Amino acid sequence: MTTAPTSVHASPNPGGPVASAASARQVTKAYGTGETRVTALDAVDVDIQRGRFTAIMGPSGSGKSTLMHCLAGLDTVTEGRIWIG
Ligand SMILES: Nc1ncnc2c1ncn2[C@@H]1O[C@H](COP(=O)(O)OP(=O)(O)OP(=O)(O)O)[C@@H](O)[C@H]1O
Ligand SMILES: [Mg+2]
Repeated sequence: MTTAPTSVHASPNPGGPVASAASARQVTKAYGTGETRVTALDAVDVDIQRGRFTAIMGPSGSGKSTLMHCLAGLDTVTEGRIWIG
């Protein structure tokens, strides 16, 4: 896996509510098995705050799309938990 993606929060409403819209705890996502196994996410913790803009940044292949799919409930995780709302 290349450098892990990072998230940066910017608030259009400073001081406003900061409840999580989605959270991940110790989320691991692996594609394939055995020699072809790829660990796309490796124990990721992140909170996406409600009412704020959040950018997920990282090099190609670092797992940005995989993280979005898992956070949105569009794909399963291998280990860990996702909360929505
Ligand atoms: N369906 C899949 N099957 C096997 N490996 C996959 C699959 N989807 C993603 N991967 C692998 O998981 C890793 C993370 O991929 P991902 O697409 O999440 O990265 P990304 O940060 O969104 O990259 P990009 O900036 O190119 O969109 C990469 O090594 C990729 O090859
Ligand atoms: Mg992508």
